[in-house]
Amino acid sequence: NPNYLKMEGSSGLQQVSCRAKGGAPGFKVAILGAAGGIGQPLAMLMKMNPLVSVLHLYDVVNSPGVTADISHMDTGAVVRCFLGQSQLEDALIGMDLVIIPAGVPRKPGMTRDDLFNINAGIVKTLCEGITKCCPNAIVNLISNPVNSTVPIAAEVFKKAGTYDPKRLLGVTMLVVVRANTFVAEVMGLDPREVEVPVVGGHAGVTILPLLSQVKPPCSFTPEETDYLTSRIQNGGTEVVEAKAGAGSATLSMAYAAVKFADACLRGLRGDASVIQCAFVASQVTELPFFASKVRLGRTGIDEIYPLGPLNEYERVGLEKAKKELAESIQKGVSFIKK
Ligand code: NAD
Ligand code: LMR
Repeated sequence: NPNYLKMEGSSGLQQVSCRAKGGAPGFKVAILGAAGGIGQPLAMLMKMNPLVSVLHLYDVVNSPGVTADISHMDTGAVVRCFLGQSQLEDALIGMDLVIIPAGVPRKPGMTRDDLFNINAGIVKTLCEGITKCCPNAIVNLISNPVNSTVPIAAEVFKKAGTYDPKRLLGVTMLVVVRANTFVAEVMGLDPREVEVPVVGGHAGVTILPLLSQVKPPCSFTPEETDYLTSRIQNGGTEVVEAKAGAGSATLSMAYAAVKFADACLRGLRGDASVIQCAFVASQVTELPFFASKVRLGRTGIDEIYPLGPLNEYERVGLEKAKKELAESIQKGVSFIKK
């Protein structure tokens, strides 16, 4: 990568030809939006992942600095820098997994849908690059509003004739991570041992924690159910308000994104029983996209699990979630179709 070499030389050090053999065996991963609040810690954590052999860091600004910094970590992955639209295609060629945290975050008072006007176009452009350069890659889409950006990506891939619903996943892992933490706090459990399925989508009432299906089995009072449901649904806003104009969740998101990407890579490697929640093309409800538990395999999603038995509280929540989700999905689809 010429840009990367130029950057190395700019330190004034004499260049020597390196004898590196091209990194450990593993998967090739690109992060689009790698210089951002999520992108930087995500890049660092992916550089530490032993399943990654090559890590491409793409952004429209500041990717040289982030790459120089991260490339000094003595872990297996080879890191390369890509800066600006003219290098997008080089960043994507040959990738097995593309993680997309590019786009603007919320400020206090905004909904995720308020980000649509800017982020829809960014996601469209990046997905057009994927159709050309790595149409078989697994795509982990983080950019908000996820409830609309995933349908946008699907329409871009359909238009190009490369769409495979098994390979497109909206990342809702952060809400699962929060749900595990908050339930553990209330029940006095170790969060590492708690599993809360969170279904629906990734905004407000579309986030539906299934507290009746928590593992280990827990029973909650009506007050605890209300408190936990509301805290999980509003966890993103809690961080946006605490950051007071400086953005939304970045560190916990990078942690969650790596947890999810690692699951995708273990699936690609052929590990058995890799199961996580994600927002995907789905027949679990009448909606074309829905978040629920999926099993990850060698070609992406191998199986989408049904919701299982819901209690009355969850059935009411499901109806509210579906109403808002239907509109957000349609908004994404129309953005490409119009
Ligand atoms: P940020 O502003 O800190 O970083 C975004 C990065 O994207 C910047 O470096 C910017 O240069 C880059 N970018 C902008 N346009 C680009 C383009 N066309 N191509 C490539 N890169 C581009 O924002 P952040 O805090 O990292 O958040 C990023 C997105 O992730 C936001 O939309 C936010 O709402 C979303 N998010 C989603 C979740 C989730 O759970 N899915 C959680 C947190 C944040
Ligand atoms: C989150 O859940 O933290 C993200 O979706 C970011 C946001 O805007 O809340």
